[in-house]
Amino acid sequence: MNFHVMTLFPDMINNAMGESITGRAIKAGYINVDAVDIRDFATNKHSRADDYPYGGGAGMVMQAEPVYLCYRHICNNIKKSQPVQDNIIHKTPGIRVIYLTPQGKAFTQELAAEYSKEDDLVFLCGHYEGIDERVTEEIVTDYISIGDYVLTGGELPALVMMDAISRLVPGVLNNCISAQTESFSGNLLEYPQYTRPAVWRGKEVPPVLLSGNHKKLAEWYREQSVIKTALLRPDLLEGAELTQPERELADEITGNRS
Ligand code: ADE
Repeated sequence: MNFHVMTLFPDMINNAMGESITGRAIKAGYINVDAVDIRDFATNKHSRADDYPYGGGAGMVMQAEPVYLCYRHICNNIKKSQPVQDNIIHKTPGIRVIYLTPQGKAFTQELAAEYSKEDDLVFLCGHYEGIDERVTEEIVTDYISIGDYVLTGGELPALVMMDAISRLVPGVLNNCISAQTESFSGNLLEYPQYTRPAVWRGKEVPPVLLSGNHKKLAEWYREQSVIKTALLRPDLLEGAELTQPERELADEITGNRS
């Protein structure tokens, strides 16, 4: 997976992605991060990539040309894409360009799984009051939001997305089981986890975990997932495939006795 990030703050991207699991995945070659500074494509001598908004108003707007030149540079580096011509082109075929914006579609685990199948993803991080609409119209294929709140820029949302996508890329997590049993798979939250000591400040781990009985353990995991989802995210239960006893257990917890 190759992530290409158009940003005014490449250090933010490189520093965060260089840590922990994503850092290891980069070193091992499972993912690659190319953070490209939009300022390098500014056409004025002060390397400014923003200007005042037409029509007035507070804040600055990122200019179309540096963003477009940065996009062309990235597209020309992606081998499968056609060389980008000098004239304006509509959305290079086959390249998904994700613009992080609170106006976008909500990012979900399902979308993360879909994106993890791509070879290349391009992220466009806005700042200030936004980006000149003429260039986003030309190059953006996907408008994505990470939640109903407004951040100062698109870098943190891009990092959130890259993190969620990376862990679904084969090889990034060493045990593929964990990606299947984790929260949201089958619309259920993950069961609770415990580690040593077996008794912590008088609190014991559930005895089934020490029993070595795999069948019982699997049943317990499933039941705990249902309980946790009913307690914390009852909205997910509608889309979950539950057996009759599991549905009754969930209903008992949520108070839904229909
Ligand atoms: N840029 C600013 N706020 C954002 C959000 N909530 N999601 C995606 N991009 C953003």
